[in-house]
Amino acid sequence: MPAKLQLRAPLWLLLLLLLLPGLPAAQGQGAVASAHPMATEAGIAVLADGGNAFDAAVTVAAVLAVVEPYSSGMGGGGFWLLHRASDGFEVMLDGRERAPLAAHRDLYLNDQGEVVPGLSVNGPLSAGIPGQPAALVHLAARYGRLPLAQTLAPAIRIAREGFPVDEHYRRLADWRLQQLLQWPSSSAQFLVDNQVPPLGAIIRQPQLADTLSRIAEQGHDGFYRGPVAQRLVEGVKAAGGIWQLKDLAEYQVVEREPIRGEYHGMKITSAAPPSSGGIVLVSMLNQLSQFDLSSYSPVIRKHLIVEAMRRAYRDRADYLGDPDFVSMPVARLIDPDYAAGLARDIQLDAATPSRHRPPGSLTEGHDTTHYSIIDAEGNRVSATLSVNYPFGSCFVAPGTGVLLNDEMDDFSARPGVPNVYGLVGGEANAIAPGKRMLSSMTPTFVETEQGVAVLGTPGGSRIISMLLHGILSLDAGEGPQAWVTRPRYHHQYLPDLIQFEPGALSVEEQQQLQAMGHQLKPLDSTYGNMQALFWNREDGRLSGASDPRGIGETLVK
Ligand code: GLY
Repeated sequence: MPAKLQLRAPLWLLLLLLLLPGLPAAQGQGAVASAHPMATEAGIAVLADGGNAFDAAVTVAAVLAVVEPYSSGMGGGGFWLLHRASDGFEVMLDGRERAPLAAHRDLYLNDQGEVVPGLSVNGPLSAGIPGQPAALVHLAARYGRLPLAQTLAPAIRIAREGFPVDEHYRRLADWRLQQLLQWPSSSAQFLVDNQVPPLGAIIRQPQLADTLSRIAEQGHDGFYRGPVAQRLVEGVKAAGGIWQLKDLAEYQVVEREPIRGEYHGMKITSAAPPSSGGIVLVSMLNQLSQFDLSSYSPVIRKHLIVEAMRRAYRDRADYLGDPDFVSMPVARLIDPDYAAGLARDIQLDAATPSRHRPPGSLTEGHDTTHYSIIDAEGNRVSATLSVNYPFGSCFVAPGTGVLLNDEMDDFSARPGVPNVYGLVGGEANAIAPGKRMLSSMTPTFVETEQGVAVLGTPGGSRIISMLLHGILSLDAGEGPQAWVTRPRYHHQYLPDLIQFEPGALSVEEQQQLQAMGHQLKPLDSTYGNMQALFWNREDGRLSGASDPRGIGETLVK
């Protein structure tokens, strides 16, 4: 049985509901924004067939698991932020992967205590125990109204009949080709003649269809016990991994109270630990509340935003980890007064070098995907899911069709040593048996006077700063198309660099930022794949947008 947490709707939300009776429900059947048209269309069809947003969320996640194997999957995990319209209840389903019980703090170190390159990223030793199957079963049982046999049917059908390869698939398969070729089960499933499949080739995954069918018939046990569990463990062990049957049998979804904050009167509801997303997002917004951003030139505004990112990501590295294992000063990290203290040494004309920042002093620690759903009743889901690196560990457990994640890399393999996203972590995020690795996934709701935004994005460590850009765009009066399109820049404390997309900083801005002491890292390509919806409560209208950087689709019906 999943762990239960009795949560009450927050007071401000209940007051808002009382104060705003008779608001129009969303027009039509609802809206879905996801990273793949087949997932969006399947989600909309479920809404049309009488399902609610939670049923559609099961369908969209399962279809994405089939058609975006490079992003998320049944061998991965994620966070589902839910809002139930009937009583305003909000919760975050934590379907994050856990470290295997045989894992230990030095799992990825050699005899000299150095991190062995690749060990936490490639192959079954890099895989945490998946949470997505448990989360979908829980979502359907507790919040949905349709049976899994119905909501998983589109994914089962597409896994059996296949889907056509697009350029995005080709690019990511090419990038991970050498690792996919390591495992016959993986190359058979995702390659054609051991090569990146040509455009339009059909990828069929009959074994994954069988695994999904077992989940549809047997629920949680269809994956975590019985033949699927047996094959997962045998496959992992034979390939050098450390999973045991009890890892799967013990896996539980956890319901967690979301992180809440406020910015310029907007209510922010976002991901709780083991995601760092909500805390870092609220900390950045709290720091920026100290400044009237609109009164500064664009370059000073960008400098201030970068400085807020630097300070919030510093706290991420110092304090955050799995709440079931480490005690974290969450209330203080999201306290506006604490943020005012952080912002106090931000100078208007000079960067604060990250190395010069004192360590934390509190006394108390193209991969990935996102979708957003709002239904006609006003139920909403913001979900960010991952297998971590593109195609996860690149290892498919033979006989299951399940591609395993490489989420173990999100732990700090050794405190202070960066992971694939360049993120450093501390003791709070060290590996321990059964522990959840710290995440940056940030599914979010923003309530304004006018309506409700549902948004999120993939993008590793840059996820949280992308959410910040989206919310600042919303605050500036812009709509979903602008939130998902705005050029992006990012700072994560270490490395001490502003990374930026082509076009995000003008040449003049780059010169001015360098003169202030910022180091710049221009990126060759864009990043992120934001999926955003907005429900205008004044007229009931739904709108949304899918990031032009990806191949996603938003449908409003
Ligand atoms: N694997 C990416 C994240 O959870 O942040």
